[in-house]
Amino acid sequence: MILGIEGKWALVCAASKGLGKGCAQALVAEGVNVVITARGADALEATAAELRALNGGRVVAVAGDITTPEGRTAALAACPQVDILVNNAGGPPPGDFRDWERDAWIKAIDANMLTPIELIKATVDGMAARGFGRVVNITSGAVKAPIDMLGLSNGARSGLTGFVAGLARQGRLASANVTINNLLPGVFDTDRLRTTMQGVASKSGQSLDAVLDKRRATVPAARFGTAAEFGAVCAFMCSAHAGYLTGQNILLDGGAFPGAF
Ligand SMILES: NC(=O)c1ccc[n+]([C@@H]2O[C@H](COP(=O)([O-])OP(=O)(O)OC[C@H]3O[C@@H](n4cnc5c(N)ncnc54)[C@H](OP(=O)(O)O)[C@@H]3O)[C@@H](O)[C@H]2O)c1
Repeated sequence: MILGIEGKWALVCAASKGLGKGCAQALVAEGVNVVITARGADALEATAAELRALNGGRVVAVAGDITTPEGRTAALAACPQVDILVNNAGGPPPGDFRDWERDAWIKAIDANMLTPIELIKATVDGMAARGFGRVVNITSGAVKAPIDMLGLSNGARSGLTGFVAGLARQGRLASANVTINNLLPGVFDTDRLRTTMQGVASKSGQSLDAVLDKRRATVPAARFGTAAEFGAVCAFMCSAHAGYLTGQNILLDGGAFPGAF
């Protein structure tokens, strides 16, 4: 299938590694020009070089913290126009809600709710004026099935989910071919997963391999997802064919969520 987005410009946030990188790779493979961001300049430049080798499109790397106004301004300034916005940032730390003070909550809400909302605000009206726009927010399967130790993530991302559900259905966006959807990862084999599982291993005295095996066994697909699989679904959601898909939460979890829908 040709996705019909060749030559569009995408801003893919938090994309030097993991799921964001998977999304950038899939978009670049379709001929999309991308601006990618991450805080660490070295890994970001290495990823930009990999992406440039994939296709003839333009790849611009902007090092910075996307959760800050400066980081967002720099990322937006590097993109001639944003036709596709993939919102992503690091997830909040796990823990017990009894230990979280206001600052921990504000940080999580800033990163995983207000940052995507700010970027949506900066881009959707331009998308609507041009008659094409795709926003994909990388959230988490924890929005659908909350994970107790990830309370900050459950809370902040649910706020974004509620907001998006309303915004996506606004007539002047939906009728202008601007779609806004969330893509919910289950367990994907990325640095983030390994860091989280290492925390579980250290706390419980098990080896990392044992913890990973146990986690894998909870997935009907009997494996972790890959960033490439995640990116492919994201690219389809950004495609010309997905104009009738809006306000949705697409769960990609190898069958782990046990509900019928
Ligand atoms: N992997 C999973 O199984 C899974 C499941 C559910 C939800 N998620 C969520 O999906 C998102 C991506 O996860 P991942 O597994 O791809 O993580 P990852 O492998 O750790 O990659 C995170 C990427 O985001 C960048 N980043 C982090 N914070 C940033 C910031 N403030 N500004 C700009 N870039 C930033 C990182 O680069 P720098 O560190 O250099 O900035 C890196 O490129 C996270 O929010 C995570 O919580 C992941």
